[in-house]
Amino acid sequence: MPLNRRSWAEPFKIKVVEPLRITTRQQREQAIAEAGYNTFLLKSRDVYIDLLTDSGTSAMSDRQWAGMMLGDEAYAGSENYYHLEDAVHRYYGYKHLIPTHQGRGAEHIISRVLIKDGDVVPGNMYFTTTRLHQEMAGARFADVIIDQAHDPASEHPFKGDVDLDKLEKVLQENPGRVPYVSVAGTVNMAGGQPISLANMKAVYALAQRYGVRVILDATRIAENAWFIQQREPGCQNRSVAELVFELCSFSDGCTMSAKKDPLANIGGFLAVNDDEVAQAARNLLVVFEGLQTYGGMAGRDMEAVAIGIGESVQDDHIRARIGQVLYLGDKLRQWGIPIVLPVGGHGIFLDARAFLPHIPQTQYPAQALAAALYLDSGVRSMERGIVSSGRDPATGHERAPKLELVRLTIPRRVYTQAHMDVTAESVYSVFEDRDNLRGLRMTYEPKMLRFFQARFEPC
Ligand code: F0G
Repeated sequence: MPLNRRSWAEPFKIKVVEPLRITTRQQREQAIAEAGYNTFLLKSRDVYIDLLTDSGTSAMSDRQWAGMMLGDEAYAGSENYYHLEDAVHRYYGYKHLIPTHQGRGAEHIISRVLIKDGDVVPGNMYFTTTRLHQEMAGARFADVIIDQAHDPASEHPFKGDVDLDKLEKVLQENPGRVPYVSVAGTVNMAGGQPISLANMKAVYALAQRYGVRVILDATRIAENAWFIQQREPGCQNRSVAELVFELCSFSDGCTMSAKKDPLANIGGFLAVNDDEVAQAARNLLVVFEGLQTYGGMAGRDMEAVAIGIGESVQDDHIRARIGQVLYLGDKLRQWGIPIVLPVGGHGIFLDARAFLPHIPQTQYPAQALAAALYLDSGVRSMERGIVSSGRDPATGHERAPKLELVRLTIPRRVYTQAHMDVTAESVYSVFEDRDNLRGLRMTYEPKMLRFFQARFEPC
């Protein structure tokens, strides 16, 4: 039979392997009950294929490991800081680098520097830690993402886009009270959905007209750039690296979790262009993170991040990384499993509302589905629905999001296509058995970021 297409393969080969442990159903029943039906509370040793998160779970390259040996662990002025600074200038273009232990460290610092009590921060959907730091600094978050982002079935190519009318309304109604526009690329909670280059540019122009800054969450910006290359007219012949640089040019600074795109196991930074903002941030940095030339990271970790940034914007890397996610998504879609469409950059998001229509949102269908998937095969996923959304700080009521999702997050360069097959087959068997699944009731609710530590029992 003639081949009418050419497959692609990963642009690397495997040098080191880590054994996986396969448990029995009985062992998993015990493990998930002990974990209070919360996949965050499982022990890693009880997990087979770990799709909890793509955060800090990447496989580093031989270059990154070699770089770890070049760690300069000086308290001040570490050589690795300057390598990282170079990488941030070269690939993202910002003037000042403020290193932090991970992304939320940067979110904490920038929120405290820019936000005053009573402010409003508009953004393209929320991320859990980002919004919490904005709220803790005294702001209210206003969602200005396009409506299609809240509809799992909408196949809009850029579901991360900001609705410019919604944004302008917030800017008009709150003069002097909007410290910055918070833009993420890709949008994690919407399903890893990208923002278009044209929209990013328009957001920046609109914000500038109101004298308001734009702060980019650049955590998965290379993945975002790849979608632009694939989907946005006029961008097909541009490299991911070029597109990343241009996206960043439409912002005044960024927060970064180096545990995602930059292929490191720990680390992050804040980067800004404004000298005064940088100075204020460095002042807080020494209080909460560490000295301005390490900010909570070891020298060797800064080196791994610096090298990882360069690797993360290579076209062949991103193509294989997202290609693997698309492979899993296509398979589930062909089998009729309800997932968020189009498939996003860092994982597959199961639509728990459509999957389990008989379980009301007050009984945490996505949480129940994540537990059921673990029970079936030892595949670990994460709830991204009403549990993650938490409570409204003003009313104390649960915030019931339209999206009630389970995220199967794919670590970078870690699993093979066969692992994707096993995962898809497990999702399929849970789908076949869906009528027998029951909801959960919460037995312990932490005050902040409750999804990390909450406990449940079956209804
Ligand atoms: N912004 C986005 C879009 C994220 O996805 C995350 C983390 C952060 C900021 C915070 O970075 O973890 O380094 O402090 N997301 C992880 C996840 C936890 O699983 O999606 P961090």
